[in-house]
Amino acid sequence: MPDLATSYLGLNLKNPVIIGASNLVKDLDNIKKIEQEGAAAVVFKSLFEEQIELERLQLSEELNQYNDRHAEMISLFPDIEHAGPAEHLHHLRTVVESVTIPVIASLNCVFDETWVEYAKQIEETGVNAIELNFYAVPGDFKREGKGIVNEQLDIIAHVKSNLKIPVSVKLSPFYTNILNVIQQMYYAGVDGFVLFNRLFQPDIDLENEQHHFPYNLSQEGDNRLPLRYVGLLFGEIRGSICANTGIFTGHDVAKMILAGADCVQVVSTIYKNGFQQIGKILKSLEEWMEEKEYATIEQFQGKLSRKNLKDPFAYKRAQYIDILMKSEEIFKLYPMR
Ligand SMILES: Cc1cc2nc3c(=O)[nH]c(=O)nc-3n(C[C@H](O)[C@H](O)[C@H](O)COP(=O)(O)O)c2cc1C
Repeated sequence: MPDLATSYLGLNLKNPVIIGASNLVKDLDNIKKIEQEGAAAVVFKSLFEEQIELERLQLSEELNQYNDRHAEMISLFPDIEHAGPAEHLHHLRTVVESVTIPVIASLNCVFDETWVEYAKQIEETGVNAIELNFYAVPGDFKREGKGIVNEQLDIIAHVKSNLKIPVSVKLSPFYTNILNVIQQMYYAGVDGFVLFNRLFQPDIDLENEQHHFPYNLSQEGDNRLPLRYVGLLFGEIRGSICANTGIFTGHDVAKMILAGADCVQVVSTIYKNGFQQIGKILKSLEEWMEEKEYATIEQFQGKLSRKNLKDPFAYKRAQYIDILMKSEEIFKLYPMR
C-alpha cells in the first residue's frame, strides 16, 4: 500500500488532505468527524477582527439604549463587556485538546498591532501553526499595489518575530506579479503558502434589484489557477505549498502533487459531498499511486513542475498562443449552429 505521508510547514502529515477554514471547521463534532474520516489536519475557522469590532459596537449600542440604567448594569454585571476574541480562543483550545491531528488557526485582521496581538493569543492555545488570511478586495482608487504588499510584508515580519509556531499565508490570486510577492513573503519569514483563497462575489437579484451574497462554492475545474502557480513555484522557493480552490477528488489531489504541492486544502467538496468524501479522496489517490507504482508522495511530487519539465514552454505564453491558434479544434467540440 502506498505511503501518503507528506510534510507541511514542518509538520508531519499522514496524508496531503487538509480541511480548509470554513463554517464546517468551527464545531467540535464536525472536526471529530473530519478526523475520523482520515483528514491529515484542519484549519479552524478564521478569527476576523472586523467581526469582533462589529459585535463590540452592537453591544455598546445596545447598552446606550439603557443609558440611565448603565451604571446599575455595570455594577450588576461587571463582566458585560464583549468577550473580544476570548470565545474564539476558547473553542480553539478545546479543539486542540480534543483531536490528535494538527490544528492550524486562521487569522484576518485590519490593523498591524492586532495581527500581532491576536496571533500571540492564538499561539497560546497550543495550535500547531497559524495561517494569515490576507483576504483583501481592492475598493480604494488611491491605494497603490506596492503599498498593500509592503503592509503585508510588515505584518508577516512582525508576526514572525513574535511567534514560535510556523506561519503560512493564504493569498488571493490578484497581485500584478504574485511570484515576486511570494518570494518577498518567503524572505520576510513565511513558512508556507496557501494558493488561493476564493473571494466571495456578490450577485444581483434582478427581481428585487438588490445585491445578494450567495455562498459561491467552487466548481470542478476551478483548480486550474492554483495548478499553474503551484507548478511555477515548485523548486523555486523553500516554503511549503498548499493548493486550494476547486479540489474535489483524489485525482485532483494527484494533479496538484504532480505540479509540486506538498498538500491541499478542501472545502467545497465536503459541503457538496459530505464528510465521507475525505475517505473517498484518499482511496482514489492511493489507487492512482498503486496503478502508477508510486510508493511515496515524494516519488511524483513536482514531476510536472516548470522546473522538472523538459518542455520549457508548457508554462509559457507560447502555449497560450498555440491554443488560441487552434480555432478549428474548438469548432469540432462546439459546432456553431
Ligand atoms: C462557507 C465558507 C466559509 C469560509 N470561511 C473561511 C474562513 O473563515 N477563512 C478562510 O480563510 N477561508 C474561508 N473560506 C474559504 C475556504 O477556506 C477555501 O479557501 C475556499 O472555499 C476554496 O476552497 P474550495 O474550492 O475547496 O471550496 C470559506 C469558504 C466557505 C464556502
